[in-house]
Amino acid sequence: MKAIRKAVLPVAGLGTRVLPATKVIPKEMLPVFDRPAIQYVVDEARAAGIEHFVFVTGRNKGAIEDYFDTAFELEATLEAKKKTAILEEVACTKPVPGSMSFVRQQAPLGLGHAIWCAREIIGDEPFAILLPDVLVQARPSCLAQMVETYMETGGNIIAVEAVPESEVDKYGVIDPASRDGNRLRMNGMVEKPPVGKAPSNLAITGRYILQGKIFEYLADQAAGAGGEIQLTDAMARLMQTQDFHAVEYDGVSYDCGSKLGYLRASLAYALKDGALGDEARAVAQAVLDAAG
Ligand code: G1P
Repeated sequence: MKAIRKAVLPVAGLGTRVLPATKVIPKEMLPVFDRPAIQYVVDEARAAGIEHFVFVTGRNKGAIEDYFDTAFELEATLEAKKKTAILEEVACTKPVPGSMSFVRQQAPLGLGHAIWCAREIIGDEPFAILLPDVLVQARPSCLAQMVETYMETGGNIIAVEAVPESEVDKYGVIDPASRDGNRLRMNGMVEKPPVGKAPSNLAITGRYILQGKIFEYLADQAAGAGGEIQLTDAMARLMQTQDFHAVEYDGVSYDCGSKLGYLRASLAYALKDGALGDEARAVAQAVLDAAG
């Protein structure tokens, strides 16, 4: 069984649902409590054993690359001022040299196309995909739970979670065939089905472990829902030829592609913070009380 060493993080999206905040800042760099959203996703992947990160970026996303680089002036200043604790926090954001690659998606043709743009760097090995719009609070991390399953089953794995029937049209949705604990086999999957026409209410969470074969399907995948090349459509084809499981992971997800999603995630991560959690709770309560 080949280990999952590489992950693709598609970050080319414009972030239109969080404008004007994202006019000059990539949405992945917006803070969720005390760090950019992307940091949580990288940490989740690291906790699952990922060693190499492939960011699929676009124009105006340079801040992401800079964030993971050395900030020489900042670090030198903190060192000179003996601000060791802050310096350590900054140092934690830095990856192992050479462990991040950046490739551009030159046109917004869909998630499937974004993933396909990473094919040369991934090569022919199983890899993970983490959609940075989705943050998952889970222990072990969501991807780590999937890797655990993968080590037993091999093949391809997606994370799924139950969503309200009225919201299935926002997601890729699976058609479950059978269940063994939290593992499901599927008859198929469909991207953004209309409410009332979905095969289930089990939505794809934005975490994937896929075999390199997916790139062959993505290469000629026709545009699907929303006129975009959909990863879900390519996975539905891959499922016909390879082993494929869905894992109903244990944890809570936050949609950071929307304003209220950010607010919810910020609050949740603040409340869980080891050092500031209690004070954060008091702050949240005081704000609610003052608002009446
Ligand atoms: C994408 C995927 C979808 C998945 C969702 C999770 O949709 O295409 O299958 O359920 O992420 O957030 P998007 O949110 O990019 O429209």
